[in-house]
Amino acid sequence: LCLEGKYLQPETKEVNGILMTKIMSDNWDKIWNFQAKPDDLLIATYAKAGTTWTQEIVDMIQNDGDVQKCQRANTFDRQPFIEWTLPPPSPSGLDRANKMPSPRTLKTHLPVQMLPPSFWKENSKIIYVARNAKDSLVSYYHFSRMNKMVPDPGTWEEYVETFKAGKVGIDAKSLSFPSVLWGSWYDHVKGWWDAKDQHRILYLFYEDMKEDPKREIQKIVKFLEKDTPEEVLDKIIYHTSFDIMKQNPMANYTTLPTSIMDHSISPFMRKGMPGDWKNHFTVAQNEEFDKDYQKKMAGSTLTFRTEI
Ligand code: A3P
Repeated sequence: LCLEGKYLQPETKEVNGILMTKIMSDNWDKIWNFQAKPDDLLIATYAKAGTTWTQEIVDMIQNDGDVQKCQRANTFDRQPFIEWTLPPPSPSGLDRANKMPSPRTLKTHLPVQMLPPSFWKENSKIIYVARNAKDSLVSYYHFSRMNKMVPDPGTWEEYVETFKAGKVGIDAKSLSFPSVLWGSWYDHVKGWWDAKDQHRILYLFYEDMKEDPKREIQKIVKFLEKDTPEEVLDKIIYHTSFDIMKQNPMANYTTLPTSIMDHSISPFMRKGMPGDWKNHFTVAQNEEFDKDYQKKMAGSTLTFRTEI
């Protein structure tokens, strides 16, 4: 994975039909057997749904709007990403989580059927955030270009097909195998949607958060059983706005070396707007995407807004 200080594309390997990095697959037994606790809070998303944003909001609520406390460490140190595994000596998400005192806030991108069963057994609270497919695709494409820890996205044309397939896409030039980790977006959002009525899951939408952050943050406050005064709420809204988070090194992933994330290719805090897909899809791509979307989402009550 790391050769003379340069990151290469990670090898990938499936677990139960879901593509992961090879090192995550090799560690799968440990991940599956992760021991959740009743007072854990889990933030679950498909990649690029607004995970980091939600993590910051939650940390601010838990710390009663204390900005300095929320800058005590990087997002990924404050709230371990449970399945994320790197070659030693880098601590894995599991190591970080197991070392952390309770109450813990954790992050995952696992599809619902792959969530370590102890979360269900312990009835831990879960916040799931979903974002419309086209903006998720665009965001994941740019993220895969700048982040050397996930597979290369290939060309835009290839990536659109890869995202639809939910794993390895077409290999137009016989050179690369563009792929997406964590499986199909469609199965992910539907799977968690179906689970939300049987478990303690707050299901949120990126577009709603953008449209009315106060309303959505209040939902989180209620779910966390916190009592957050109005002026603290306003502080949270400000501190977690896109422009402020973009400048916050503890939340914008700029503390990682450029050999891992190269923000000059595409910043982690990229646009933060619903509807950016319109700047990427051609008319034909969009029509095809919509047709395929109807098929994949047929029968689900889950609906998204692709702009606000
Ligand atoms: P874009 O690439 O569309 O800009 P994740 O944290 O799940 O990886 O999601 C990253 C996406 O959320 C990126 O989307 C990023 O810009 C956006 N994002 C991060 N913080 C945000 C904020 N405070 N408000 C709105 N969007 C935010």
